[in-house]
Amino acid sequence: MAEAIFENFTPADAAKWSRSNLRLNHTLDRSSLFSDEALAALIETYPDHLCDISTMATGGCDHSTWRYGNIGDLSGAQVLNAVKSGRFWINLRSVDKVDRRYRDVLEAMFAEIGANVPGLGPTYRKKLGILISSPGAQVFYHADVPGQSLWQIRGRKRVHVYPPAPPFLQREDLENVITGIQEEDIPYDPAFEEHVSIYDLEPGEMLHWPLNGPHRVVNHDCLNVSLTTEHWTTDIHRHYMMNYANGVLRNVFGHRARSRAVTGTAFWAKLAFALFWKYGRFQKRYEFKGMIDFKLDPSAPGGLVTIPAQAR
Ligand SMILES: [Fe+2]
Repeated sequence: MAEAIFENFTPADAAKWSRSNLRLNHTLDRSSLFSDEALAALIETYPDHLCDISTMATGGCDHSTWRYGNIGDLSGAQVLNAVKSGRFWINLRSVDKVDRRYRDVLEAMFAEIGANVPGLGPTYRKKLGILISSPGAQVFYHADVPGQSLWQIRGRKRVHVYPPAPPFLQREDLENVITGIQEEDIPYDPAFEEHVSIYDLEPGEMLHWPLNGPHRVVNHDCLNVSLTTEHWTTDIHRHYMMNYANGVLRNVFGHRARSRAVTGTAFWAKLAFALFWKYGRFQKRYEFKGMIDFKLDPSAPGGLVTIPAQAR
């Protein structure tokens, strides 16, 4: 039988799940699925449309310094070397869709979470991503739409988590992220640091935070291999539809909905409206895919060369 993923998931931990920040121990850092050899092999055959390669400024929270690139003609081992010596963030999105072994890991993660958290209910539309990132690399302040966890495999990173409420997360910004009017990036103010919770995540630790909790991540001075998981539950979906409907009502019809309830008549009316809008022919599709404007090149300064901008 495969090794359990959680070492000591207590009832006290379960009571915190999605209600407050929760750090747990896991065993996935011992898996050979995340060795350099396994990652290099994955990179070489990974579908382009599921792989993001990014670079960004050191320090600060300037979203405009975030750039996308591609790996050019490098081998998997060369890509890993470029990440070790440069400032890159590689996101192998949805590795569960690409390789059965990782799908099994994802299913095992949520089977154990479901077994430990009473009342969680079924989890669905789950995704597993592998993040391979450089010493000092960072991800700027943002809020994610589904349930999110970060699992550390190798290296150390500092995770800054903020309360999922104003002023850290304005209702309008969340609605805009959910309706696709803006990317996950949301406004950051250094004054938020007074209310931050900081976690230095070590190999064998995972962190889960309340739904839509704003966060930013800064690697310590070492290569990092981490996993991200996304998941949905009925409750998460209700919040999504409520915010989606409120966002459409505000942006399209100029109506500021007072209710943020996820039960009752107003919610069901809103749900019907949200479904009509989202899946009907009236939805305007917004795409925030960004442009690729560099490729990895170990012989160039910083390990990259700028190329003409092209669609991702
Ligand atoms: Fe995130």
